[in-house]
Amino acid sequence: MEYGTDERKDKVSVRTLQMMKKKGEKIAALTAYDALFAEFLDEWMDIILVGDSLGMVIAGYDTTIPVTMNQMVLHTQYVRRGTRHALLVADMPFLSYQVSPEEAVKNAGRLLKEGGAEAVKLEGGKYIVDAVKRCVQAGIPVMGHLGLTPQSIHAFGGWQTRAKKEAEAQQLKEDALILQDAGIFSLVLEKIPATLAEEVTQSLNIPTIGIGAGNKTDGQILVTQDMLGLYEKIKPKFVRKYTELSGFIREALKHYQEDVKSGAFPSEEESF
Ligand code: KIV
Repeated sequence: MEYGTDERKDKVSVRTLQMMKKKGEKIAALTAYDALFAEFLDEWMDIILVGDSLGMVIAGYDTTIPVTMNQMVLHTQYVRRGTRHALLVADMPFLSYQVSPEEAVKNAGRLLKEGGAEAVKLEGGKYIVDAVKRCVQAGIPVMGHLGLTPQSIHAFGGWQTRAKKEAEAQQLKEDALILQDAGIFSLVLEKIPATLAEEVTQSLNIPTIGIGAGNKTDGQILVTQDMLGLYEKIKPKFVRKYTELSGFIREALKHYQEDVKSGAFPSEEESF
């Protein structure tokens, strides 16, 4: 694939991802919430996820729980306009799929029809399997999400690593197989021991995408604003900061404010 060029011709589909797993080629994924970032990501990423993390990163909530379907549809539309190559996946927000499989398929359909997503992501194991099946039967590709599923944060009582104990690890392994049987095309594994993520990855035919799950998963995902050093409220150990954009932004804002106050901006060349 010709990453990072205007001529990037490949269109990533769910089939591409399955081929990548077969070939042992790692899958790179990040989140986006608007067209501007999506255009940058689309040069390099195999998957762009419109995460419900937008609730924390964009809307300023403490958790992802308040995020609505309308917010997800709107931001998916924005990201759609900046995405040509990567597979565009949108998160189903809290209570948009847990109440009934009928509501799940309707809401997932909105993300495809109105938002332009090519797939949806649902959090949870065996309890959501009917919702997953209904979406898959309707022709909607579904990505699963196990481990630290942020929509269950109040039930977990915090952001601690999941499935460290044998019983929860066993449940997660079973859930992964149940979801695969229900037809998911890929599975996100969040904040679980690396050895468990490796075991799950080996047990599945579909690709796993890890976040805080070690480097033996088939791919990796991070929240873009975390890895760019923009979101400072939570600092998970699994985030590698590839730059510290917040420092550059503060410096530029300070400089602009000083120039406005001193009259140095605008100059003659910047005036008409
Ligand atoms: O909401 C989100 O951004 C996510 C990923 C980080 C996996 O679910």
